[in-house]
Amino acid sequence: MAERTFVMVKPDGVQRNLIGEIVARFEKKGFQLVGAKLMQVSRELAEQHYAEHKERPFFGELVDFITSGPVFAMVWEGENVIAAARQMMGKTNPQEAAPGTIRGDFGLTVGKNVIHGSDSPQSAEREINLFFKEEELVSYSKQINAWLY
Ligand code: PPS
Repeated sequence: MAERTFVMVKPDGVQRNLIGEIVARFEKKGFQLVGAKLMQVSRELAEQHYAEHKERPFFGELVDFITSGPVFAMVWEGENVIAAARQMMGKTNPQEAAPGTIRGDFGLTVGKNVIHGSDSPQSAEREINLFFKEEELVSYSKQINAWLY
């Protein structure tokens, strides 16, 4: 199976109507969407998702923010997609993120930085399993020639 990663448009990105822009960037890059849903993250799920940051001073703020409104959770598939998604997102702090990256183009503060993406194969597996059931993910081949006229 091709590599998969977990990507989430955070509540600020949903409120600012950036879902379509972000999905388009991943599609145009050549990655394949295998799962997606708009959802409200519970405090329990947020605490599990960000468990590794439990001791950090901003943990409460992080959980408050990610549960403050709906998120758009996705699983993307393709060659080297974990690292490529991180590159497309840009640095965590939007003020350090290069123009052309999602955070560089749309983010302003580290607390509200538009998008999350898994940082390693281990995180990707863990986060995909936290947010999606197996039956919500669809593996399929693109039949490009059948849809070109
Ligand atoms: S990273 O990408 O994991 O190396 O970034 P890191 O600096 O470890 O940050 C982990 C997540 O915490 C968020 N963050 C913050 N939220 C609120 N306030 C402050 N000061 C802050 N600093 C970092 C950051 O956006 C990361 O969220 P995710 O969803 O993993 O991108």
